[in-house]
Amino acid sequence: MGKTSRDKRDIYYRLAKENKWRARSAFKLMQIDDEFQILKGVRRAVDLCAAPGSWSQVLSKRLFEEDKEAKIVAIDLQPMAPIPGVIQLQGDITSVDTANQVIEHFSGDKSDIVICDGAPDVTGIHSLDEFMQAELILAAFNITSHVLRPGGNFLAKIFRSRNSSLLYAQMKRYFKKVYLAKPRSSRQSSCEAFVLCLDYSPPEGFVPTMGRSSLEITDASGVTAEIIDGFVTCGDLSGWDSEKSYPLDIHVSFPRGESTDEDRNRYEFKDVVQPPTDPAYKEALEMKKTGVFSNMNAELQREVRKRAASQDYINSFSSKANPFVARNRKR
Ligand SMILES: C[S@@+](CC[C@H](N)C(=O)[O-])C[C@H]1O[C@@H](n2cnc3c(N)ncnc32)[C@H](O)[C@@H]1O
Repeated sequence: MGKTSRDKRDIYYRLAKENKWRARSAFKLMQIDDEFQILKGVRRAVDLCAAPGSWSQVLSKRLFEEDKEAKIVAIDLQPMAPIPGVIQLQGDITSVDTANQVIEHFSGDKSDIVICDGAPDVTGIHSLDEFMQAELILAAFNITSHVLRPGGNFLAKIFRSRNSSLLYAQMKRYFKKVYLAKPRSSRQSSCEAFVLCLDYSPPEGFVPTMGRSSLEITDASGVTAEIIDGFVTCGDLSGWDSEKSYPLDIHVSFPRGESTDEDRNRYEFKDVVQPPTDPAYKEALEMKKTGVFSNMNAELQREVRKRAASQDYINSFSSKANPFVARNRKR
């Protein structure tokens, strides 16, 4: 596989690099915002599970354009390279400490929006992965219930599953409108979608807590039809299709068709904008260097390779930058 193959295969990956976004996810947020205008007039925003930071980049671009004093707090387990004007916290969104830190940063004021593109490490065990994702959304909602102002909005990534109806029903108890958004930049073949909850209005007497540990199984009846009603595809249908491969010699721009003379240069390979500062597979690389890896039995080696390969970013590195991947690919 050559180093340009992902550019051909994944137009949003290429667009992200050309437009200096740290990840292709930037387009998902921009397409949702273009459809629903959720970032208009926002002065305070929280980005949960923010690394490497493309959603924070979108927030900073769109918020600071309107108001230079806007406040953005970004949180992730992983360290993140700085983004001017964005307050960064390294922490776990499922912990009370992190919630308290966010709350401190808003000293008295509440946020206009909370967004969460969180994804737990994939284990490959489908039911466990679904459960972990649901728990992450719940943690995101718990923090949100502390920091979001009444009338504010909440956007979170979900993986559509058996529990989607339940989640949707739960969110409807706290927000006046709930949609399921699928941006064009999110592959149709992926069960990823985004639950967009508008106009926070918790029930009377609701006390925010970080202790809610699972979705309550109430009110879930009859919600399936509402999900279908609330499903919105975001992004221009004649825009770039995330499922298609495009040749390298075409002009790319976002939105599609907006290329300038400058864009019409010949294709030039670009490296990723911001490699992860402390990637989860770093440990595997260290083990490789020290020779520990070659002394492991075959089963352990397979496990380490599987974990390393499951990192999305790993594919974005050239073989020169990441010898561990290069070696795996050859096998
Ligand atoms: C898909 S990435 C987010 C990409 C980001 N929105 C962007 O645009 O660059 C998912 C992130 O969720 C983070 N994450 C997963 N579980 C977390 C947790 N419990 N607390 C904080 N961050 C978490 C991971 O560290 C990872 O960086």
